[in-house]
Amino acid sequence: MAYSCKELSQVYDSIYSRKLQKTVLNEIDGEIVGRAVASLRASGIISNRELKLFESAIRKYLPIGIIQADRGLFVDFGCGFGILGRRLSKSAGLRYAGFDCSKVAIRYAATAARNDKDSQSLFWVSDFISTGLSEKSVGVAFSLDALYLASNPSLVVNELARVLKDRSILFFTLYENCSNRGAQYTSLGTWQTLLIGNGFQIIECEDITDEWRKHMAKKHQTRLKVRKKIEASMNQAGTLELAVSRAMLGAHGHDGFINLTKRYYIVALRSR
Ligand SMILES: C[S@@+](CC[C@H](N)C(=O)[O-])C[C@H]1O[C@@H](n2cnc3c(N)ncnc32)[C@H](O)[C@@H]1O
Repeated sequence: MAYSCKELSQVYDSIYSRKLQKTVLNEIDGEIVGRAVASLRASGIISNRELKLFESAIRKYLPIGIIQADRGLFVDFGCGFGILGRRLSKSAGLRYAGFDCSKVAIRYAATAARNDKDSQSLFWVSDFISTGLSEKSVGVAFSLDALYLASNPSLVVNELARVLKDRSILFFTLYENCSNRGAQYTSLGTWQTLLIGNGFQIIECEDITDEWRKHMAKKHQTRLKVRKKIEASMNQAGTLELAVSRAMLGAHGHDGFINLTKRYYIVALRSR
């Protein structure tokens, strides 16, 4: 079942509010991810290899795509705290613009930019399907682990096709189910068909499941190992977080979210 934007905004407001409280989880997760890029404060874990994939997409495709004189915005769809997107927009040399349906995320993202003395970046609360962006105003569209939540991917792709400049790029990650248990996400094949039907050309598509599974399993196994510390310091919030870890890992012979899900990285060129 897909959730509406309004429902998701409530869910994510509460996830981000919890995340912003300093808890023992910051310390535990920081140790778990080690050299992965935890400091970006993303919702999941960004490995160094993934970061390289994103940076190389910008290096490889930006020069062939976008007219230098009028390069447009770097727009982060479902930006969360926007830390990774802002970093990538700098390597693209484009002005950053991030939107999300969560007010809590946008408030924090704007504060983080101000603290970094970044007065250029733009932030606003919005929905994937009605971004408020002008037609052909986007030079690079980016989205990390967010578009898969869209309840109507066809409308999202229409909006992407409307706002992206010709020969600009879209790069994003998405999740796909490997079974019919649990939440059902739009398949990779459907996203590809919608993109091609709306004038995009898929130029890269990589299965990045293995590395994601490895990192997520490590994160949640470690949380469960130190569950006493989490419960003692976080009380009911800790119990909730541990329930998430159990759902991620599975129990009693049933696979959890990690094994029921695949993750992909896609780059598409707006070709007409
Ligand atoms: C898993 S988080 C990823 C956030 C961020 N990209 C990151 O990696 O840290 C998914 C994000 O998508 C946002 N989101 C979900 N549905 C949305 C919609 N219809 N419009 C805008 N944002 C949405 C959520 O609020 C959440 O911030």
